[in-house]
Amino acid sequence: MSFFSKLLKFGSHNMAIDLGTANTLVYVQDQGVVLNEPSVVAIETINGIKKVRAVGDDAKMMMGKTPDSIEAIRPLRDGVIADIEVAEHMIKHFIQKVHGRKSLFSYPEIVICVPSGSTSVERRAIRDAASNAGASEVYLILEPMAAAIGADMPVTEPIGSMVVDIGGGTTEVAVLSLRGLAYTTSVRVGGDKMDEAIVSYVRRHHNLLIGEATAERIKKDFGVAKKPADGEGVSIQIKGRDLVNGVPKEITINQAQIAEALAEPISTIVEGVRIALENTAPELAADIVDQGIVLTGGGALIAGLDEFIREETGLPVTVAEDPLSCVAIGTGRAMEEPIFRGVLHTA
Ligand SMILES: Nc1ncnc2c1ncn2[C@@H]1O[C@H](COP(=O)(O)OP(=O)(O)O)[C@@H](O)[C@H]1O
Ligand SMILES: [Mg+2]
Repeated sequence: MSFFSKLLKFGSHNMAIDLGTANTLVYVQDQGVVLNEPSVVAIETINGIKKVRAVGDDAKMMMGKTPDSIEAIRPLRDGVIADIEVAEHMIKHFIQKVHGRKSLFSYPEIVICVPSGSTSVERRAIRDAASNAGASEVYLILEPMAAAIGADMPVTEPIGSMVVDIGGGTTEVAVLSLRGLAYTTSVRVGGDKMDEAIVSYVRRHHNLLIGEATAERIKKDFGVAKKPADGEGVSIQIKGRDLVNGVPKEITINQAQIAEALAEPISTIVEGVRIALENTAPELAADIVDQGIVLTGGGALIAGLDEFIREETGLPVTVAEDPLSCVAIGTGRAMEEPIFRGVLHTA
């Protein structure tokens, strides 16, 4: 390899991007995941003119605490691109952040993971954003495929397997075989709906108003899919604003109550799994009985969710090793390993 081509190769940091509704992860060839930040953009409006104030970690810290002039936006919140312009800005920001100043020598290939339910207009917008940020080639990969590769499932073989990726805005359920998606369905329920369910439970049962960030913390630390065996589980204190007299107050709830709050969003996810199973060809369904279901995405970390889905479906259910990074790792491997080239799309 000549010095110059070495230099080019050194500079050409091919990237794989998991553009999630809650988190964006960037994987760099031969390095792995180098960036993991919330998919949030803070926009300030001054005299009717909008300006980006912060992206990622900095923007998420502002959520729920911004003055009227600043708005923290999650451009992909429900799994579709609610705001294409803001989404493009965010993609460019993250690519440039990873890319740094090496751009003079590098023309990277970028593989971006998109929801299986995204429209062609949305996919084009995502492609354009990556091109505008300096990518020489942009490839797309469907999220369930990336999740399955990241979870080491046998996607290149003639064996049916099922992945359930529970993200912030959506849950994608897919049956895969021979590098393709044999069936896929997307439910608009994920971690966000669980947070909202906790907010509304606390409001209804305790007249206490809490923010979504508080609800998310409760869910991550104490969320359970099933009532604890002792009937109550751990008790925790929650602070918020009393709806009756308007002052700050603290209440106590236990994990059984959190399970009750989460029951509805979780049953919607299970329903999605059931529909996918009903629509799966018999030969593939037979494989799933052996292979089981693999859970990925942050929502897979709810304690006892695997067991709950196992009980509801009668199938083996496992949680992928690193559910929050699965999609990014799978997108990265699809970019790096020739065996997966067939799963990349150009549009
Ligand atoms: N330990 C945890 N327990 C329960 N939920 C979690 C945990 N960690 C993260 N989450 C939730 O997972 C969701 C984000 O998952 P992620 O796979 O990154 O979503 P997306 O791919 O849509 O960006 C958020 O709703 C977050 O609250
Ligand atoms: Mg995801």
